Amino acid sequence: MSGTSSIAVIGTGNMGRGLARVLAAAGHTVLLGSREPERAQQLATELGAERVRGMRNVEAASRASIVFLAYHSNDTLVEELAPVTEGKVVVDISTYHEEPPPDFNPLTQVPSGSPQERTASRLPRAHVLGAFQVTWAQLFSEPLLDGRKTPVFVVGDHAEAKAALLALIRTLPFEPVDAGGLRQARVLAAMYFLVTRLARQYGFREHGHDWRTLSRSLNVLLPPALGLRP
Ligand SMILES: NC(=O)c1ccc[n+]([C@@H]2O[C@H](COP(=O)([O-])OP(=O)(O)OC[C@H]3O[C@@H](n4cnc5c(N)ncnc54)[C@H](OP(=O)(O)O)[C@@H]3O)[C@@H](O)[C@H]2O)c1
Repeated sequence: MSGTSSIAVIGTGNMGRGLARVLAAAGHTVLLGSREPERAQQLATELGAERVRGMRNVEAASRASIVFLAYHSNDTLVEELAPVTEGKVVVDISTYHEEPPPDFNPLTQVPSGSPQERTASRLPRAHVLGAFQVTWAQLFSEPLLDGRKTPVFVVGDHAEAKAALLALIRTLPFEPVDAGGLRQARVLAAMYFLVTRLARQYGFREHGHDWRTLSRSLNVLLPPALGLRP
């Protein structure tokens, strides 16, 4: 994929900022969407990248060929995006919509659904994929380790859409790993619950560790251990 396509990033939070930064650095035109266009314009200016432009969410999605939902996708905005994402690749990066019940054990259980599957049912005419769910925002400022890209899990059922996303991610300082169909998003959600629960339980912050190291370890070690290849 060349660096000339327009990519929408919906949401100006931690993940939206990180995605916009790496996409622009790779030469893509980034249409940064927000509920408040001034906020998106302000962030575009802060990022200092000519290729990032701020606007309203719906406008960004309507002008792009690939749309990243970099916000918690259980909101009503998804319905507003439906008419402007028909036939497009939509990448939902949400980790979860609801906290699992306290007795949920992410070592032995997977959730009964995932944000990505729910988004796919709400956007039936878009090609919904999942990616970056277990890539912590802090990693975007330092995605390379010893010059090596960090793997990113990608899930989805639409072969052509997935091929387009894999190609896009290869232009970034990340290495895409095809982790299967959209249903596999449940496994990534369980992985997220497992890591955050263990991190809290073992006082990860108090021990001076950071999400960058944790996220990188998870993404680097797991694909070969599971037999998944970039
Ligand atoms: N943080 C991480 O390390 C991480 C890692 C993997 C996946 N994720 C997932 O990435 C998504 C974004 O996380 P984040 O950390 O970037 O969150 P965040 O910093 O809170 O930012 C989310 C952004 O979404 C927009 N937003 C908030 N409420 C909204 C609503 N009701 N409708 C539409 N847009 C809304 C806001 O942008 P505007 O105010 O400009 O509209 C906000 O800045 C979440 O689904 C999260 O599960 C996060």
